[in-house]
Amino acid sequence: MKHLLKISDLTTDEFEGLLKLAQKLKAEIKAGVEHHLLKGKSLGMIFSKSSTRTRVSFEVGMYQLGGKSLFLSSSDIQLGRGETVYDTAKVLSRYLDGIMIRTFLQSDVEDLAKYGSIPVINGLTDDHHPCQALADLFAIYEHKGKLKGLKLAYVGDGNNVAHSLMEACAKAGVDFAVASPKGYSCREDIVEGAIQQAKKTGCKIVVTEDPVEAVSGADAIYTDTWVSMGQESEKQERIKVFMPYQVNKKLYSHANDGAIFLHCLPAYRGYEMTEDIIDAPFSVVFDEAENRLHVQKAVMATLMG
Ligand code: CP
Ligand code: NVA
Repeated sequence: MKHLLKISDLTTDEFEGLLKLAQKLKAEIKAGVEHHLLKGKSLGMIFSKSSTRTRVSFEVGMYQLGGKSLFLSSSDIQLGRGETVYDTAKVLSRYLDGIMIRTFLQSDVEDLAKYGSIPVINGLTDDHHPCQALADLFAIYEHKGKLKGLKLAYVGDGNNVAHSLMEACAKAGVDFAVASPKGYSCREDIVEGAIQQAKKTGCKIVVTEDPVEAVSGADAIYTDTWVSMGQESEKQERIKVFMPYQVNKKLYSHANDGAIFLHCLPAYRGYEMTEDIIDAPFSVVFDEAENRLHVQKAVMATLMG
């Protein structure tokens, strides 16, 4: 494993290895055991989009691993003024031991990995959010005690978060159903790839426009904002289209008893889910958020150690 660009690049062993290491690092840090696996190493964190969780969890994670992180806003570095990804990759490879990047185009992240000589970690693009999916599956595992044989329903926009989650479920043997309105479903090539992967792990991938169908028999329900970063001008139209896909008590009643609720955050109460869902005892959104720290430490230790 050289980079983390998208979940489908990982082998099943690599995927499971990251979750296992995350579990170990989480237990250690809670027990007060220091693990300076990246002593003296530096991580550059390029951000072309806003962030709370990704920025803070990578920075704290690097600190806990004994290394140092640098916040590089794309509006401050020359990349934002037109320096090429090629030159940026070459130069940063001379200083750093790893790069985390959050940006728009997946191809920019792939190019950074291709032209640089250090590990690259995708901290979200328009198409993928692999660190999030790792944290999500870790949270589901902690709450349900297993992954294989469970069903996860994603209701809402077929976006970056949905793509990575679908790929992660296919890898982990979790049945995955996604319900999105017409014109907002997941990318077909990503769905096709996940279906092929799911055949190997023995789970099902279902794509539908019907939220009730998706949620029926689910052990976990997931949603994300209807308006991702970069789509702000479509906000009014999207709210209209997505309202029938709101996760509320009525929709939740179709899930299995004890079904948990997940959301990558930031969340918008009254839109993609009601307050009584996200603030309910079965909501695990803050465990998910915490797990970003632990899985990303596992990713960094694996790639940069
Ligand atoms: N879930 C997530 O990636 O959050 P941030 O945008 O705050 O990093
Ligand atoms: N789909 C959202 C996720 C934010 C963490 C976005 O891309 O804005």
